[in-house]
Parts: sequence; structure tokens; C-alpha cells
Amino acid sequence: MSAGLLSNKMIIEEMRCLMLSQSLRDARKYEETMEKKIGREDRPDFHLATRVGWMNDPNGFSYYKGEYHMFYQYHPYDSHWGPMHWGHAVSKDLLHWRYLPAALAPDTEYDRDGCFSGSAVVLPDGRHLLIYTGVAKEAQPDGNMREVQTQCIAVGDGTDYEKYAGNPVLTRKDLPEGGSKFDFRDPKMWRKPDGTYRCVVGNCTQEGDGRILLYSSPDGMQWKYEKILAANHNRFGRMWECPDFFMLDGKGVLITSPQDMFPQGFEYHNGNGTLCLIGSYDEGTDTFTEEQNQAVDYGIDFYAPQTVLTPDGRRIMIGWMQNWDTCNLHTPAEPWLGQMTLPRELSIQKGRLYQKPVRELDDMHGEEVRHENVTFTDEIRLAGVEGRKVDMELSIRPGDAENMYRKFAVRFAQDDTYHTSISFRPYESIVKVDRKFSGSRRAIIHQRRCLVNSEGGTLKMRIILDKFSVEVFVNDGEHVLTATMYTDLAADGISFYADGSVTMDIVKYELK
Ligand code: FRU
Repeated sequence: MSAGLLSNKMIIEEMRCLMLSQSLRDARKYEETMEKKIGREDRPDFHLATRVGWMNDPNGFSYYKGEYHMFYQYHPYDSHWGPMHWGHAVSKDLLHWRYLPAALAPDTEYDRDGCFSGSAVVLPDGRHLLIYTGVAKEAQPDGNMREVQTQCIAVGDGTDYEKYAGNPVLTRKDLPEGGSKFDFRDPKMWRKPDGTYRCVVGNCTQEGDGRILLYSSPDGMQWKYEKILAANHNRFGRMWECPDFFMLDGKGVLITSPQDMFPQGFEYHNGNGTLCLIGSYDEGTDTFTEEQNQAVDYGIDFYAPQTVLTPDGRRIMIGWMQNWDTCNLHTPAEPWLGQMTLPRELSIQKGRLYQKPVRELDDMHGEEVRHENVTFTDEIRLAGVEGRKVDMELSIRPGDAENMYRKFAVRFAQDDTYHTSISFRPYESIVKVDRKFSGSRRAIIHQRRCLVNSEGGTLKMRIILDKFSVEVFVNDGEHVLTATMYTDLAADGISFYADGSVTMDIVKYELK
């Protein structure tokens, strides 16, 4: 490179830095230094985890300039939640992620207490548009300080983003009657076929009843209130966070994460969990009519998912693989907390939301190990079946046509001390994840049960392990259970157990 070109490059770099606030420059410098202290072996392999510090919700999930962009709620300086920044990573296949410098820091009047969750679209002129919630504390008439939330935008090139001079673009003035300015967050926008934009934002009434507001914009910059797209009417928890809305297989799908839910039968056991409303959507009048509801994940660790439409037309969802009630039990000495789930391909089948691991995962398959018609009545191990980075599909059925087995279980991340298990009891039709023996010393939630569909004791489960997590896709994605487990990596055994007689086919791949 000639001296002239080199100095031009340096000048451009210098100008780029000048544009950025001191807070953002500090965060970028900090993450670049501190990430070196986290070994590759201490991170998940193909699940996006925080670069350093703390991660929660996925944000700005989008496809831009030939790559998937994932931003996330980020507190680089501590492995606990704190003033929110946006972390940033890119990937070509949704599985191998490369960190980019932090994209947003809380550095203006209107977001000085946090850049909360939001989304991204690509503008027709090729720029990347982010919309997010700006948080700023305000003194209330009773003298207390409270966080007021507004919607703000930033425009960038895929690395650096400039906050819009007209921010905030939506404030308390744009709320429908009775709307709380303290709970007005997590805008998810999309571009309609006619080139205009729509955006859903989580809100609740002053009494704390959740609802999803719809806004429209001709250009992504100026926004206008349209209507309440869906309302809780005190059915599912209180405030509705992190909405996403899209069409899927001819249905309108609204996903949102309500806080403080009561369990209902086998649904909604997570306190703060994720709800999926499926219905019809009239594109002309932007009217959503609810028909069905279900939980999105039946495990322990899943919240605030966001979706993207891939260039080949697939709707892919990634969630935060954590639970708000158990994410604060680690010591400050731990350098990171927060992982995302596997990207999941969504479809509607038989009126339900189905999820499958993204097909790109198949390209990571190493050697295949296959065992067919294995019948067992106690604990067994199978040749070539072990590991902590595994994709395995199990099909089970009764081993004895006359006598239904009582229980099947697969144990993994296993050694003499530890294991986590997935079990199935055909009489109750219940799949259970249990991480009680995963190495936790805390009396937190370690089990979750899910009512599944099974006929005559047959069941299919695809189980994905990536060091510190398990995701179970039951019956081709009809039900999904997700859990993290921070078991020592030396525990890499896998075994199978039957109470009664079970016959199993298994195909297992190590993930490279
Ligand atoms: C959900 C959430 C969002 C908010 C963000 C703050 O997990 O509470 O509503 O934008 O986290 O980090």
C-alpha cells in the first residue's frame, strides 16, 4: 500500500472516531481488550454469546450487505445488567459469528439511562436503519425519579451508526389514551410491500395491562400512531415486552414476551416467558384478529426472541437463552453471561408454531453415528455417542408391544457427578428437562415439563448440545424445550435409560 493511501485510510479512521461519542469509544476499547481474557473453550461454539460482560435480548436482527446482523442488549463492563449498550455481531450462516464494535452507547439526553431493545431494516438508499428505545430518568411530581421511554433511531453503514438529529421519533405524545410512558419499548419495524413501514411497540396501560401498539411511517424516520394491534385484557401476565409481528404460512403471527405470567395448565410456566398469538391479518387495514395462543418454548431459558426474513424466504427466530429469575446468581468475577438460542426456522402447521434448527446446522455435521432398533430395559451407552457439541435425533417406541414402558430418559453432559436429562413418560405424555445435577449449587428452577403429542409410546426428539445448552425439538418442532447448563466440559458422556422396554433409532453427529 502506498504511503498516500495509508494516510488516507488513517484520516478516514480518525474522522470515524471523531463522530463517535466518548462512551461508545470507551465501550469499544474495553470490549476489545477484555475479550482476550475469555478463552475460546469457555464460550459456546455456534451460539452467539456476549463479547464481554452481560447480554440480554436480541436486537436489530437483519440481513444487510450479504450478512446477518445481530445486535444485543449489552453491558460490557459487568456480567450483570447495567446501562444498556448495543453489542454487535455478524454471520454468513447464522452459526459462526464475528464480533463488530459495539453499535450504540447511552450517550445523549434522550437515552442517557440506556439504549433498550429495538430492530433494524435496510433503507432503499442502502443505509441500515436502527430503531430502539431511549431511556431517561425524570423527576416525578412525587419527587421520585422514574425511567421514561421513547423511540429513537440511528442510521449507519453496518459498523458505525449515527443517532438521528430528530430523536426521539415517538414519545408519550404518541401514546393512545391511558398508555404508560414508563412502559413504552422495544420497537420492531418492517417494510411493507408498498414501501411504507410499520412498527409494533410494547406498552401497557397505567394499570399495567399489556398491549401492542402499531405505528406507521412513509420513510422509517417519521412515525405516526395507528392503533392497538393486540391487547392483553389481563390474560397473559402484565407488561408485554419485545413484540415481533410477521406473516407466516398465510397467518398473522404476533410474538411477545409478557412479564409476570401465571401458569395455565402446561403453558406459560416461566414467569416472564414468550407468548405466540396466531390469527388473521388484513394487510389493507392492519387488523389482526387472534385465533390461537401458545407458549413459544417449554424449557427454562428462553425470552424476547426476534425474527428475520432470509433472502430465500425463511422466517428465522433467535431468542435470549436465559431466564430473568435465574440470571443473577453468578459472581461478578465471571467474565460473561448471556447466550442466544439456535436460530430456528418457523412454520405454522396444524394451527401451531413449529420450530426447527436452521438448516445451515447440517453443514456443521461431522461423522455420522447410527444405531437402529436398539432395545433396552435399563441404562445403556452406545458406541460413538458422546460429546458436548452434538446434533442427535432419537426415535423411540415400546420395545414390548404387550407392555408399555414407564419412562425413557437420555442423560448428557454426564460423568460420575453430573448429568442433565430429558425424559419422557408415555402414560402422562410428558417430556421433562432436568438439570438438577448439572453442577448448580442453587435452589433455582431446574426442571420444566411439557405436554407433548405421542401415540402408543412413540416419540421423536432432536437434541442439540453446544457446551452450555440443550435445545430439544420434539416431534419435528411441535414443542421445543431450551435450557442452559454450565456443567464442567469434562462431563461429556451420553447414556440412555428405560424403565420397561424401549426400542430406539438414533442418528448422531458431532458438530464441527
Ligand atoms: C426484555 C427487556 C426489554 C428492554 C430490555 C432492557 O428483556 O426488559 O423490554 O428493552 O430488556 O435491557
